[in-house]
Amino acid sequence: MASLANSSVHLLLLVVVLAAAGDAVTFTIVNKCGYTVWPAALPSGDGNQLDPGQSWAVYVPAGTKGARVWGRTGCGFISGGSLGQCQTGDCGGTLRCAAVGAPPVTVAEFSLGQASKDDYFDISLVDGFNAPMAIVPAPAGGRRCPRGGPRCAAEITLQCPGELRAKAGCSNPCRGNSTCGPTKDTEFFKKLCPETVTYARDGQGTTFTCPAGTDYQIVFCP
Ligand SMILES: *[C@@H]1O[C@H](CO)[C@@H](O)[C@H](O)[C@H]1NC(C)=O
Repeated sequence: MASLANSSVHLLLLVVVLAAAGDAVTFTIVNKCGYTVWPAALPSGDGNQLDPGQSWAVYVPAGTKGARVWGRTGCGFISGGSLGQCQTGDCGGTLRCAAVGAPPVTVAEFSLGQASKDDYFDISLVDGFNAPMAIVPAPAGGRRCPRGGPRCAAEITLQCPGELRAKAGCSNPCRGNSTCGPTKDTEFFKKLCPETVTYARDGQGTTFTCPAGTDYQIVFCP
């Protein structure tokens, strides 16, 4: 009798574990750049080192609003689990991050739905640009995303106007200014990466949707 009770407890635990796994979305972060990228993800704050060709899976609970993924570039070496300062995207010289890293930085933004709701996602250049990026959805169960995903494949840093040039990146003059609209400078970002958010209220063709439960690849240098 006791062992029967035990096995139903185990069965119950198994069901709980499976349900929890089913409620997590997988972000597979892939580095196709010819250089090392140190990605980080919020809200977990997890970070990693990705050499060229490497990938890393991050699990995010369904329903998470304000999930962010970005890459740091030009970082110092990791020793004993600690990371040196990074030229872009740095969050205090540590592998783990409590907040989005220092600009200029390309940021993937997600608002994940639950059950029959949709996910919303975009690539934001409001904090500037430091690495080309694409979000590639992998919808489950044969469902379709109404519009695939955004990509910003151009190496903007090389073409950045002189006054916006930053170490290993390109700054956005609209950063931190919610009233800043399309300007000559944000048009530069728009021209090279039309599917990205280039100022705070930039809605035109920048927000993408997929059914909740979709997994995503976030590709650096697609
Ligand atoms: C914010 O943007 C507006 C419109 O472009 C501009 O007039 C204003 O000076 C900006 N404010 C700051 C603090 O940069």
